Amino acid sequence: MKNAERNTWCRSHQGLCLRQSESPDVMVNRDVEEVKNLLEKYHQSHLLAFWGELSPTQRDNLLDQIEQLDFEEVSRWVRFVLENTSPEIDSDDIAPVSSYSSEPADPGQRHKYAEAVRLGERLISAGKVAAFVVAGGQGTRLGFDGPKGNFPISPVKQKTFFQIFAETIAAAGQEYETTCPWYIMTSPLNHDETVEIFNSNDFYGLGAENVRIFQQGTLPNFDSDGKILLADKSTMSRSPDGHGGSLKALHQSGALADMKKRGIEFISYWQVDNPLVNLFDPLFIGLHAMDRAEMSSKAVIKTDCMEKVGNFCLRKEDLTVIEYSEFNEMEDNEAPPSPDGQRPKLAERRNPDYSLVFRLGSIAIHIISTSFVERLNADGFCLPLHKASKKIPHIDATGRLIESDKPNGVKLETFIFDALPLATKSIILDILRDQEFAPTKNATGVDSTETTKQMMVARAAEWLESAGVVVPRKPDGSVDCLLEIAPSFALKKADVKAKLRRIPQIKPGETLYLA
Ligand code: UTP
Repeated sequence: MKNAERNTWCRSHQGLCLRQSESPDVMVNRDVEEVKNLLEKYHQSHLLAFWGELSPTQRDNLLDQIEQLDFEEVSRWVRFVLENTSPEIDSDDIAPVSSYSSEPADPGQRHKYAEAVRLGERLISAGKVAAFVVAGGQGTRLGFDGPKGNFPISPVKQKTFFQIFAETIAAAGQEYETTCPWYIMTSPLNHDETVEIFNSNDFYGLGAENVRIFQQGTLPNFDSDGKILLADKSTMSRSPDGHGGSLKALHQSGALADMKKRGIEFISYWQVDNPLVNLFDPLFIGLHAMDRAEMSSKAVIKTDCMEKVGNFCLRKEDLTVIEYSEFNEMEDNEAPPSPDGQRPKLAERRNPDYSLVFRLGSIAIHIISTSFVERLNADGFCLPLHKASKKIPHIDATGRLIESDKPNGVKLETFIFDALPLATKSIILDILRDQEFAPTKNATGVDSTETTKQMMVARAAEWLESAGVVVPRKPDGSVDCLLEIAPSFALKKADVKAKLRRIPQIKPGETLYLA
């Protein structure tokens, strides 16, 4: 067995989990009979179904992949695939959680926010904050050929996500007179292409030494009977292990060690498909540091009780994010049942002022202390598994390639927000959605490239107007011009005022790019 660390899965109070451990059923040499016996014992004999047809190199490759498996862990994965092991959440265990609002609530908090901003600025200037984007996803909904980060998204210049983030990091470096290193997590699906994109763009001027691109781990894909799927006759089908895999990948790739060497204490985490993200937010960083939090989150106030976002809440007093699919189904046991015996949903519970009790939606923006990632990896930490039915190309028992337009396999993954209950302390800052959150999931419709571009224009218009610039608007109030503000021009709303002399008069229907 190779000495590399392996992922194994265990049960915890949250269900089936990821941890690092050893189990007795691992292969010690390349005895094919031993492999056969092992596969038979764990009902995975089909992995050698095409053995007789394989070349020596293919055989070697296949054995390599099987050697990497810990069969105790395989049997746990299989049990998870076959049963619905995710434990039912009891709504009696769920309570709302408080947050810091984007604006301070009272004079005491105003003072704290001012202090936090000063602290956050000091930490950024001192080079204590790294940028970390997770970009290993498949981006299936967007349907773009290539890494999602390379999708041209800005409304005027068609800059890609990667370019926008790079320009933001460069502008922050200038503002704070520091160098902010950028860590990018990819997966085997898009690693080489991503590296090529950065090479051919000369690392967007950030310097190759300040950009570290590393891969996340993968997990086997299964059929609904718990059999590992084969991508071809000598290759197991595998998928990236979810954005939760980033916490292990940071450690295993050496990125965490690199951060420590550079004196980084805080990781600014975001997703590759949100071009409005405020990467270096002194208030968020400062509050996290002042409150000695290990992992903190930004949230949006839900627009609708059933909005399709993860819900921040306390579960048995631990901060947790519950996916909307589960949360929106939970009944409110405190509410009286209606005449037909049905209880209202927990998601519908309201305060006396009619605001939602469970109002904080998760947007996958976090500050994570490097010491937390270190601690988790030293402890052999556990993240629960989630499974999803997906369209997974694979070969069948006859070796025929099966490509279906319907889900035909099971993918296992972990989610970053499942690390929140493991943090000793955590804060939530609820922010204004139109300023910081434009998820680009689909080609058209909701959360699409269209809505993101609209949001980018709308935010630019709002920044200009707040500095006194007249922005043409249509009778319905929508912006009547195409605007793009480069990070070099303004990183935040307040930066616009100092640049007023460089902003021309804007006519209806015009296109304006400010850099
Ligand atoms: P999504 O959940 O939106 O998934 O990822 P996706 O793969 O990008 O898109 P779909 O669902 O196939 O359409 C949210 C963020 O997490 C990253 C993605 O790159 C994105 O930034 N991610 C997701 C990873 O880095 N690794 C993963 O295994 C999954």
